[in-house]
Amino acid sequence: MNQKIAVLDFGSQYTQVIARRIRECNVYSQIFPFNTKASELKKLGVCGVILSGGPASVLSKGAPKPDRKIFELGVPVLGICYGLQLMGSLLGGQVVSSKEREYGHGVLSFKTCGRLLKGIESPMKVWNSHGDKIVKLPKGFKAIGTTENSPYALIEDLDRSFYGMQFHPEVVHTPEGIKIIKNFLYDICGCTGDWKMSDYVARAVENIRNTVGDKKVILGLSGGVDSSVAAALIHKAIGDQLTCVFVDNGLLRKDERVKVEKLFRDNFKMRMRTVRAEKIFLDRLKGVKDPERKRKIIGKTFIEVFDKAVKSIGDVDFLAQGTLYPDVIESVPIAGNPASLIKSHHNVGGLPKRMKLKLLEPLRELFKDEVRALGKELGLSREVLWRHPFPGPGLGVRVVGEIKKAYLDVLREADDILMQEMRSSGYYEKVWQSFAVFLPVKTVGVMGDERTYDNAVALRIVESTDAMTADWAHIPHELLAKISNRIINEVKGINRVCLDISSKPPSTIEWE
Ligand code: XMP
Repeated sequence: MNQKIAVLDFGSQYTQVIARRIRECNVYSQIFPFNTKASELKKLGVCGVILSGGPASVLSKGAPKPDRKIFELGVPVLGICYGLQLMGSLLGGQVVSSKEREYGHGVLSFKTCGRLLKGIESPMKVWNSHGDKIVKLPKGFKAIGTTENSPYALIEDLDRSFYGMQFHPEVVHTPEGIKIIKNFLYDICGCTGDWKMSDYVARAVENIRNTVGDKKVILGLSGGVDSSVAAALIHKAIGDQLTCVFVDNGLLRKDERVKVEKLFRDNFKMRMRTVRAEKIFLDRLKGVKDPERKRKIIGKTFIEVFDKAVKSIGDVDFLAQGTLYPDVIESVPIAGNPASLIKSHHNVGGLPKRMKLKLLEPLRELFKDEVRALGKELGLSREVLWRHPFPGPGLGVRVVGEIKKAYLDVLREADDILMQEMRSSGYYEKVWQSFAVFLPVKTVGVMGDERTYDNAVALRIVESTDAMTADWAHIPHELLAKISNRIINEVKGINRVCLDISSKPPSTIEWE
């Protein structure tokens, strides 16, 4: 049994980030509802409790409160932001609503390190997000650190092993925050770092088995990182009770369907249904030039085709999705909110609620890099795990204007050469995304002694951390020259290669 830290969730959008930081320290953590009984935590043998932040004010009526007995468990308790104010008010201090609300960057100053700040130097950058503040400490506590507006920004009661801080140590804007968390886990709670990703697999497998029982699950496999890892994990848990559905919409990259089938059907021996729906997609897209209409048609057709495939499978109870934590985090962007920095572009397929299936989302609490680590643990290759994002509408938004099969075929060849060269040069893993775009613009060229009058492709190679902003990648000229030469020489129908040197904003990553 792993040592376990309980994180009581008071509704902060950073609660999952706390759990993630704890995992980063190789310690197992579990998030519990804020009102979980202390006796339950005791039964589970937790070695420390963290009270998360939250949007409420401890001064308001109906503010969420923990079971007071958690302070009698005899294990260290750490309150973060709202969690600190809870400690202040429940343990006999005084909390007031502050006139100077502290949001954003702040500086923590301290004369002594206490236990939490061991190994950190004053002053230290912190990230604040609070309105209330403690004005009178509960008995037994000592102030260790102060910020401009908070004399009690970090407090400790060494005798009872209670700790609290006004700021958020879990977000990247508190650069030394991970040291604080480590001090809490290792020095204060006595954790030894006995958790690893393989333990996560074992737990997740058990949870999936308990949830699913003897029912059937379907999963829409796209070949992307998230759905591939979800498929491998669920398959490990329930084997043939899982059926993966892969829709070939005719808008995929070269050999994509065959690669996905090979990996999952032949290698993992999964039940897999491939729906070859190129014709219906291309028929419906005939004559359509507007990017938004193309997207809508592709999305709607996908749902129809997927729905039909599911019905043909028979009694299915669960729809599995590879939703990650950044997909579920509150999507309302708050200016300057670090949570919005970890939010990646939504890549969720948007399957219809009317399918009346229960959702199974085993990756819901994980971040992308953790999903990759999990995928590695499950035996997925580096090629799959480091695949660039590929949009749901696929090459449909990479053929500018009307989509024709002939254009798609030409694009697939050009794109494949780009992929080969990006991979063999090692640049594939250095950039966020790279792909070719088909431009239905005919220009004149000369090949041998003959005049050509063919279309163009653009190369889009970008660097980004979250797809919200991006810049064109500075790829060596020699590599670009090789890609361009190969495309023009090897792909019939292309006589010009252009390089897209626009950043996002004001451009977007995809051309449509
Ligand atoms: P843009 O073009 O908006 O793209 O700068 C940002 C990121 O999102 C991907 N993308 C999509 N993904 N469905 C998807 O699943 C879409 O309709 C879609 N449009 C863009 C894009 O590849 C990039 O990673």
